[in-house]
Amino acid sequence: MELVEEILAKELSNAFKKSGYNEDVNVQICSLENLGDYQCCEPLMLAKKYHKSPMQIANDVLSNLGKVELIANASVAAPGYINIFLDNFELAKYLVKYLKHVDEIVKKHGEKKNVIVDYGGANVAKPLHVGHLRTAIIGESIKRLCSYLGDNTLGDVHLGDWGLQMGMVITEIKRMQPNLVYFDEHYKGKYPDFSPVTLDELSILYPKASARAKSDENAMEEAKQATFELQHGRRGYLALWKNILELSKKDLKKNYDNLNVSFDLWLGESDSRKYYEEVVEYTKNSGYAKLSQGAWIVDVSEEGDKKEVPPFILLKSDGSVLYSTTDLATIVQRERENNVDKIIYVVDNRQEMHFTQVFRCVNKIKILKKPIELCFVGFGTMNGKDGKPYKTRDGGVMQLSVLIQDVKTKALEKLKLSKQEDLLLNDEMENIANVIALAALKFADLSIYRTKDYIFDVDKFTSFEGKTGPYILYTVTRAKSILNKVKDFSSNVDFEIFGEDRKLALILIQFHKEIVLAYKSLSPNLICDYVYKLANAFNSFYAKSSIIYEQDTKIKSSKIELTKLTLEVIEKCLKLLAIKSLDRM
Ligand code: ARG
Repeated sequence: MELVEEILAKELSNAFKKSGYNEDVNVQICSLENLGDYQCCEPLMLAKKYHKSPMQIANDVLSNLGKVELIANASVAAPGYINIFLDNFELAKYLVKYLKHVDEIVKKHGEKKNVIVDYGGANVAKPLHVGHLRTAIIGESIKRLCSYLGDNTLGDVHLGDWGLQMGMVITEIKRMQPNLVYFDEHYKGKYPDFSPVTLDELSILYPKASARAKSDENAMEEAKQATFELQHGRRGYLALWKNILELSKKDLKKNYDNLNVSFDLWLGESDSRKYYEEVVEYTKNSGYAKLSQGAWIVDVSEEGDKKEVPPFILLKSDGSVLYSTTDLATIVQRERENNVDKIIYVVDNRQEMHFTQVFRCVNKIKILKKPIELCFVGFGTMNGKDGKPYKTRDGGVMQLSVLIQDVKTKALEKLKLSKQEDLLLNDEMENIANVIALAALKFADLSIYRTKDYIFDVDKFTSFEGKTGPYILYTVTRAKSILNKVKDFSSNVDFEIFGEDRKLALILIQFHKEIVLAYKSLSPNLICDYVYKLANAFNSFYAKSSIIYEQDTKIKSSKIELTKLTLEVIEKCLKLLAIKSLDRM
């Protein structure tokens, strides 16, 4: 279907041509809403070329603009704008048709690529912390956005499961239970199917092992040795590692489920091991790798670098692989297993240099059959009120589950406060508070441009007013409650738009534009901006009208229809943000 902006541009371009200006022009949303709905600024740009004043060009064009159904009024404003108001009746017709086709309209702008979104990035055996919250929230939204635009999208959690922390955990378990079969080098039998430690034990194991390795050189050496042996296929270590991995994965799945975040691929650094031997060999032979103090490195600095870009390290001097090696091999894996065109890495800003090195290395050694678009989508940190990364009261790393619980408690408190009478049962109240809390957290995180840091402010996030998740949910429940109250109302009048209500309609028909912009710049904050604007417009529409008690059938049915359409669009936005909707609150 033809969009309003396309129809207006076409009609105006014809008028420009009829007036002797051979130009194809565009229209924008009018910056001052009392002057018009759309505007054309081209006369200002063409004045020099045609040696005429912008006002004259605009007037010429206006006189050649014939009757256009969609346009109620077109006028010229100094210093040379053409302003256009849409016809309310046509706007209503258009809006209904637009929303019927809006998914296809949006999809037309997609790249239709095979995309992998690499996000989540939890580390096995280490607790999830607030940094993992941001990648999960932003990554999930970006994945949904890409799918919505028609990319063939896969989300991969890319677990940190092959690094030194695994060696640390293995040696720590060995220290506690040295007689387990995993540690017997002569053992030839089958290993147990389950982990020798529980999840709770695991959560204390890693910090303990890490502290020990930091303070004791021998312990560190042992952990490094165990990592090396694990990576080189020592049977017992592999079996133990697998048991821990499964235990950890189960717990992670639960955590991600609670966040309404889900992955198509549960792969990790370790899965690249099928490829990295070949990749390491290839890189060594590429002529670009060289030995430096026993390690294999690739110089990835480039002329004009403003900041020093240190070499990419392929292999450590002790022969073990690193984060860089697994990331390099994973790209090859994704090329072969998923035929990927584009990889989007949603990772903390602080890893930007790592990805610069990886991306440059891939290109330099020419290991790919066809180029893959590699996008680093960095994000800032969630800080405490002191401006430093969010910590617990005693200064430790804040665990995700604790943080979510804090937000939930606050949400429940506010929910109870907002109720004159307690209509909800306790269970339902809990559930609702849960949805509100996650909406609060996610919306706060997503509404800020992702590379920026922000301050964790639970009071602000859970407020039912302002640019918050709860405010959007509140708007949704308000719309639903109105629709519920008028569900028996029926009329067979055609949908029309009356008076001020057009403001809401004009925002609704902008949906595709904002979504496409969000997609092109991988910026979910634009969806937040839009849905907030829409919620505000809906709430002022609501404040000015009495939908339920409206006497005029035509007006009443128009308002009901607008409420339905608004709800539909808000829910589309919430889905893209991976925020659950609510029926009441
Ligand atoms: N596990 C990493 C961390 O916690 C994040 C992984 C990001 N993805 C990647 N392909 N390197 O920092």
